[in-house]
Amino acid sequence: MAFRSTSGGPLSHGAIVRLLLAGAVAAGSLGAGLARAETERSAPKAAHAHQWPAHPIDLELLLAYHDFEIVGVKGGVGGVMGVKRVELRFPDGQEIPVKWKAAPAGDADGWNNTPRKEIAAYVIQKWFLDPVDFVVPTTVVRCIPLDQYGAISSRKTKANIAGTSCVTGAFSAWLSDVKVPEMLHDEERFASDPIYAQHLADFNLLAYLIKHEDGRGGNILVATDDDQRRVFAVDNGVAFGSWVKNYWVRNWNKVRVAALRKQSIDRLRQIKENQLEALGVLSEHRAGEDGVLRPVPFSANADPDHGSRVAEGWLQLGLTEDEIEDIEERLKELIEAVDSGDQPVF
Ligand SMILES: Nc1ncnc2c1ncn2[C@@H]1O[C@H](COP(=O)(O)OP(=O)(O)O)[C@@H](O)[C@H]1O
Ligand SMILES: [Mg+2]
Repeated sequence: MAFRSTSGGPLSHGAIVRLLLAGAVAAGSLGAGLARAETERSAPKAAHAHQWPAHPIDLELLLAYHDFEIVGVKGGVGGVMGVKRVELRFPDGQEIPVKWKAAPAGDADGWNNTPRKEIAAYVIQKWFLDPVDFVVPTTVVRCIPLDQYGAISSRKTKANIAGTSCVTGAFSAWLSDVKVPEMLHDEERFASDPIYAQHLADFNLLAYLIKHEDGRGGNILVATDDDQRRVFAVDNGVAFGSWVKNYWVRNWNKVRVAALRKQSIDRLRQIKENQLEALGVLSEHRAGEDGVLRPVPFSANADPDHGSRVAEGWLQLGLTEDEIEDIEERLKELIEAVDSGDQPVF
């Protein structure tokens, strides 16, 4: 498997894993999640939902670290930020479709386009969902070298983070066999169809925890397979208390379903202070000699008051202290509501 060292030379898969594991231990962190991802990747896994182009945990590693070639680009796929569906080919021949959303220039943090919040949503779902039940597609920060970017945009493109020669943005696994639902919430069906209820309830729980406030059609997709009617949150940029929200649609930041899953709530009871704190640093990248940002082991939170921390050739993303406190508060209120009987569970 062809990885590149920061100087551009190839590294073997084993070598980079050892390097990053060593770095993670030395830094006292989990090294951009790689150590954990690698452990999870090598563990036996239950099957993933077929809508994913590969197992969600494998995708964490593949999309963040591996070299790729762009072999297909499709625009006009909907939304307002000009996202593209991009087909990536990896050195082992595997082809993976992803959504590419270039980040805002300067600090990679816009009101509606903010990779840090997309990653936070992905991480928070793991608190209570097994990969097979994930509702947020695997999302990672990636910086596409300028000399490869012509495949995505014919315009003369500039780097969007100072001190780099690449375009920073987010890759999210592109889901197949999904559609915009005609009706997302059918209350009668919720009461009579446990599979339907499970997926909708877990989606609602995630949307509540992250304070999702852009519930427009297209941001929430469902499986075309109606017997296994999964629900997916594919655009989580307006969340965690954004200063602008979508007032014109039904939002899912409140619990709208009749009941939540007991199993999910019980898992949330186990969430510890350090897991909340870990949301402060969700990705960290440094430019190599070629100017391309690549993941590095996490360092200390450089600024808990700002979620996007930028220096020349360096980017650290996470949630702010206030955003994390709000999640803690929502978590606490929810568990209290379950314990008092105000919030039904099944
Ligand atoms: N991971 C995905 N898998 C499949 N389709 C997706 C995915 N992400 C987005 N889409 C489709 O692309 C559209 C635009 O993506 P979105 O992230 O909502 O961009 P915007 O920020 O411009 O609204 C969505 O409305 C949805 O139809
Ligand atoms: Mg959208």
